[in-house]
Amino acid sequence: MTCFSFPPPVSYGSLQLASRYLLSPLAGFTNLSFRRIVREIGGVGLATTDLVNARGLLAGSLRSLELIETCPEDSPFAVQIFGSEIGPMRDAAQFLEARGVHSIDINMGCPVKRIVANGSGASMMCRTDETLNLVRAVVEAVRIPVSVKMRLGWDATQITAPFFARQFEQAGVAAVAIHGRTRAQGFSGCVDRDGIRQVVEAVERIPVIGNGDVRTVADAEVMLRETGCHGVSIGRGALANPWIFRQLVEWETTGSFGPSGTFDERLTLMQSQFRHLAERHGADSAIIGFRKMAHWSLKAMHVRARLRHEFQLIQSSDELDRYFAKLSAEGPISGNRTGELPEMHIPVPSGPVERW
Ligand SMILES: Cc1cc2nc3c(=O)[nH]c(=O)nc-3n(C[C@H](O)[C@H](O)[C@H](O)COP(=O)(O)O)c2cc1C
Repeated sequence: MTCFSFPPPVSYGSLQLASRYLLSPLAGFTNLSFRRIVREIGGVGLATTDLVNARGLLAGSLRSLELIETCPEDSPFAVQIFGSEIGPMRDAAQFLEARGVHSIDINMGCPVKRIVANGSGASMMCRTDETLNLVRAVVEAVRIPVSVKMRLGWDATQITAPFFARQFEQAGVAAVAIHGRTRAQGFSGCVDRDGIRQVVEAVERIPVIGNGDVRTVADAEVMLRETGCHGVSIGRGALANPWIFRQLVEWETTGSFGPSGTFDERLTLMQSQFRHLAERHGADSAIIGFRKMAHWSLKAMHVRARLRHEFQLIQSSDELDRYFAKLSAEGPISGNRTGELPEMHIPVPSGPVERW
């Protein structure tokens, strides 16, 4: 791998991050139990919750309160809020600051219809004054750092991220994260690293976090080198390989890095993630809550389809113990249990983004 000079360490205002590698929010996956296991492995500079509805949070919605659950090991920790109105966004930011959250992230990138139809998420990139006023109001309402996560723009004819990044910096935003696709692209095509570079060039001091399609150390190196970004955030790549943050820090500090997890290590990780979930919600509800995540973990472990499906039918802790014993005895369908597992592809919504 080519050598290049790493940028200075990343700080969000006064919050210094221990690494420049961040966990990108993946709604439904990057919950507390997942954040805990990636943090136990090491290397994560900052983790952010799934997007949380500012109004829902203020109304005390159980779903929103669950999304912002954290613990001392889950630090530093940002909550991502969304909404199109100044009042609830400002009040939600103050509520979170009072609860000890380290940083607030404003979602300006979500492409999903239900979010953009309300004027939130990526649609904020189409409205200059309203968006700037909202971001300014949130920044002025709290002392903790505020960041913004956005896409390159609404579509190829409206690449507004460089403009917004510059304006946000002047408004006091501490960092911006850029997923290098437009809203119209959804998850199709490749990440436009030139587009991310233009955002880096548009700001003077604040860190720009490059995001999109980083699955390996080599991908992160290309992102840093070609865009000049200061940090890299990783979503799907972390689901496929929760060891990626540790590998990146090893690479940055020593020039080489250890392997990603084996079948046996992933099994241990899966059990540990389940324990974290069960500690908070009790085993019965953890079994149900863990189904979606387990599906991906088992896929990543190359478990045969029938056995993967059996997980979805588990109802009790006893069944779960028996399941883990069977899984451990059987091992992966391809490769071996102590070697590196092959890369896993995480599917994303497809078809016209207007229908998501
Ligand atoms: C299932 C899923 C859920 C996501 N949820 C969020 C979210 O809540 N907030 C957000 O800003 N981005 C969300 N994203 C976008 C990711 O954070 C990230 O920007 C995108 O997946 C590209 O990065 P990656 O290639 O490293 O995954 C989501 C993406 C996926 C696939």
